Amino acid sequence: MASLTIRQLDERLKKLLRLRAARSGRSVEDEVRTILRAAADEDGGEAAEPISPPASKSPRRPAIAPGVKRVLLIVGGGIAAYKSLDLIRRLKERGIAVRCILTKAAEHFVTPLSAGALVGEKVFTDLFDPAGEFDVGHIRLARETDLIVVAPATADLMAKMAGGHANDLATAVLLATDARILLAPAMNPRMWSNKATQRNLAQLVADGVALVGPNEGEMAESGERGTGRMAEPLEIAAAAEKLLSAGAERPLAGKRLLVTSGPTHEPIDPVRYIANRSSGKQGHAIAAAAAAAGADVTLVSGPVNLPDPAGVTVIKVETAREMLQAVERALPVDVAIFAAAVADWRVANEGSQKIKKKAGQATPDLTLTENPDILSTIAHRKSQRPRLVIGFAAETENVAANAKDKLARKGCDWILANDVSPQTGIMGGDSNTIQLVTAKGIEPWPPQTKQDVAAMLIARIAAEIARS
Ligand code: CTP
Repeated sequence: MASLTIRQLDERLKKLLRLRAARSGRSVEDEVRTILRAAADEDGGEAAEPISPPASKSPRRPAIAPGVKRVLLIVGGGIAAYKSLDLIRRLKERGIAVRCILTKAAEHFVTPLSAGALVGEKVFTDLFDPAGEFDVGHIRLARETDLIVVAPATADLMAKMAGGHANDLATAVLLATDARILLAPAMNPRMWSNKATQRNLAQLVADGVALVGPNEGEMAESGERGTGRMAEPLEIAAAAEKLLSAGAERPLAGKRLLVTSGPTHEPIDPVRYIANRSSGKQGHAIAAAAAAAGADVTLVSGPVNLPDPAGVTVIKVETAREMLQAVERALPVDVAIFAAAVADWRVANEGSQKIKKKAGQATPDLTLTENPDILSTIAHRKSQRPRLVIGFAAETENVAANAKDKLARKGCDWILANDVSPQTGIMGGDSNTIQLVTAKGIEPWPPQTKQDVAAMLIARIAAEIARS
């Protein structure tokens, strides 16, 4: 029988095939097989046997057994690229399936042939390689992986990632992926310490990218020493393995969480405001723990002196009314946790100019008016009420009784009650003692750090969501 390859088809047919394949999420080859099978079925299935795929000639990867973790290794252009060949072996030793992309610069240091021989399949190099696009395509490369490892991650690749560039296969895949990314930076120590690289690094870490290395030591250039050596393949493989197993412990993957945190500032005039002692530490720790558990997290934060948690969308507000607006905009979410110490009142007669002292005159009268109750507003919504609405109760007396009362009054599902009397050191401090109040009763938690409270809460939320 005469053989016909997809490449021999005319351009119009190829385009149609590409479109059909993209719509159905199949490779072009698979799409052709599907069409031919359907045609064979119409003919009574007589031709089904001969059109089964010829196993030997295809460069496609063999099917991966269920449960096997997949790493897409992106090799950047640096002298450390030669170590990435060893990294492929180290990953495969651990039972990890490896695919590989070489950047153009990487091809100056290692060849697609040597990397391909170790990976055991075609290595990808070109965004516009017609054969590559036919077989896999950059979107599938980005999706069909559990982790992307960039090793060596050059200063240039990091800059492109931080800026969201996508002008070659490696950067397009990095931009298109939902998988976690592990960078193993390697560069000259001065390039590493350069402010631009450090700026890019800070951005990437804030975006949730994980790092291994760089290490300190001799550089390839004679006489050069410092921080910039790529981590050893064994270290990178261990870091990858850790991230892959953490992936299995991402119980909130695919869930949307909203957290409020910090105090609110309610203006008296353009320079003065009413505030409280909340530091935002507990709310920020919850947002960080939720992101680590795989959730898509929006943190609406009042004014705090804390860094933004990694991998979290942070919306900064000042007042209770701005906080309510930001919270409503973030809906719908699966779970909402209200950890902010929202000011109950604002000044009704806020001055548009700085209020002046006037000799002999009485002190200004500040009339207060009530702020919206954000927790109660969201918990009582008819539409888009989160599946789980969780509040805090900051109390200085009758903690449990007041918290039970708040649970009912605010219409939320759980309340985390804590005693914020000054002698407890909870407000502004690093630890917290919680009593979890639900419709079922009160559960005292041990005194622990705010991070541990956050981890415990996230574990409870994950269990609750899994149950319902
Ligand atoms: N809360 C809110 N909006 C407000 C006030 C409080 O969303 N305007 C939320 C807090 O984030 C917290 C819960 O309500 O989750 C309870 O806050 P708390 O300060 O303990 O109680 P208040 O409602 O302010 O009541 P009180 O001051 O009488 O204790």
